[in-house]
Amino acid sequence: MTNLHRHAPLRVALVGLGTVGGGVIRLLQTNADLIARRAGCPIQIVAISARDRNKDRGVDLSPYEWVDDMTTLPGREDVDVVVELIGGADGPALTLARQCLAAGKPFVTANKAMLAHHGLDLAALAEKAGIALKYEAAVAGGIPVIKGLREGAAANEISRVYGILNGTCNYILTTMEKEGRSFDDVLKEAQELGYAEADPSFDIDGVDAAHKLTILASLAFGTELDFGNVAVTGIRHVIAADIAEAAALGYRIRLVGMAENGPGGLFQRVHPMLVPLDHPLAHVDGSLNAVVAEGNFVGRLFFQGRGAGDGPTASAVVADLIDVARDEYGDALAMPVAALAQQPAADAGARIGRSYLRFKVQDRPGVLAEIAATTRDAGVSIESMIQRGASHDDSVLMAIVTHAGEERCVRSTLERLKGSDSVLQTPMVMHILD
Ligand SMILES: NC(=O)c1ccc[n+]([C@@H]2O[C@H](COP(=O)([O-])OP(=O)(O)OC[C@H]3O[C@@H](n4cnc5c(N)ncnc54)[C@H](OP(=O)(O)O)[C@@H]3O)[C@@H](O)[C@H]2O)c1
Repeated sequence: MTNLHRHAPLRVALVGLGTVGGGVIRLLQTNADLIARRAGCPIQIVAISARDRNKDRGVDLSPYEWVDDMTTLPGREDVDVVVELIGGADGPALTLARQCLAAGKPFVTANKAMLAHHGLDLAALAEKAGIALKYEAAVAGGIPVIKGLREGAAANEISRVYGILNGTCNYILTTMEKEGRSFDDVLKEAQELGYAEADPSFDIDGVDAAHKLTILASLAFGTELDFGNVAVTGIRHVIAADIAEAAALGYRIRLVGMAENGPGGLFQRVHPMLVPLDHPLAHVDGSLNAVVAEGNFVGRLFFQGRGAGDGPTASAVVADLIDVARDEYGDALAMPVAALAQQPAADAGARIGRSYLRFKVQDRPGVLAEIAATTRDAGVSIESMIQRGASHDDSVLMAIVTHAGEERCVRSTLERLKGSDSVLQTPMVMHILD
């Protein structure tokens, strides 16, 4: 078999031996022959590093050299590529990335937080050195969406890219939907089962999805990464009644990351949305991820698969290593950094769409009329309004679906109701995917 290989082995230094790092080792061990045939050479781990040398990681690490100081790796001549699977936007991951790229060492990472914050600088460093910066695993885990946008759809003008980018949120929302349970209850169970982190805030508050959306938007539109202008709302405030009302109206609630590019600027938002049942995103259940991209020649592309976990994420990391072995790579962000457009942020208030609003209000006469009058004064036209019977604490839930209109009018409704003693809790607003 060796004589079929075009090159000497690709020698890998692997930093970070947690969920994904362990998966990469298992995958490279399990599929070694097939990978070597596809890559044109064996892919061999030569050095590994993490914090705790003595931790049992469930894989045999004895063939590999343990390195305490990862900062020595970029300068080593017996290392062809460094794989970073530590995580964190800054800190050791960023130091290692900068060192590698400055030293002309190809760099593979799954670190969306680092790319969302520092991707432009890192892409510029890779470009200057003429080497690979690869990050397929950073967005939607095992789904080859980076390749899909960077290569497969590269000829298209893409107007919109959106999707379900966080498996933990999707698991929680779909479990609430199927079992009629509360957010807190399902989150607690997800943590016990290991589906959600002990500190779940990055996931459930939408930050993780925002990191991924930032990367997708740049690739899809040829614009600079702009994490600072992603409007982010997570799923903490979605209640079982929202899911039930949405279902009654023919929708499912999903945390959607959505980016659009147009003459009005770049729009980026992560937000729970009502997704119509006839849209494929409504059928993405459990911990799956999905990405939709709309191109002017290809039409609608729909990518779906496992967005996390050791196997799917390792699959994406090793795909990047195979590219490095094949010398197949180009600009990290699909074009030279200087060619990326600096697009101003769009005015979200000017967006036209339908919205769902849920109020917890006093259970007394006149409240419904007050809300209806306020929406009218703000320029919101109501398509339907549901008020559910009295609860034990003299409050009722009122759900409104609006006709299509400017989002600024919905915001104005909420502003006008601030301070009203009829409204007992901050209202929930979710936009409806069209
Ligand atoms: N998990 C997923 O499904 C998934 C999916 C897509 C992308 N990602 C991304 O992949 C990366 C790794 O995620 P993970 O889930 O594998 O994380 P993890 O299980 O927490 O593993 C992190 C690894 O990094 C090591 N590490 C942490 N801080 C370090 C430091 N200061 N110096 C040296 N090593 C350090 C840890 O060492 P010790 O083990 O010795 O403590 C551990 O081996 C992250 O960027 C994450 O966003 C993860």
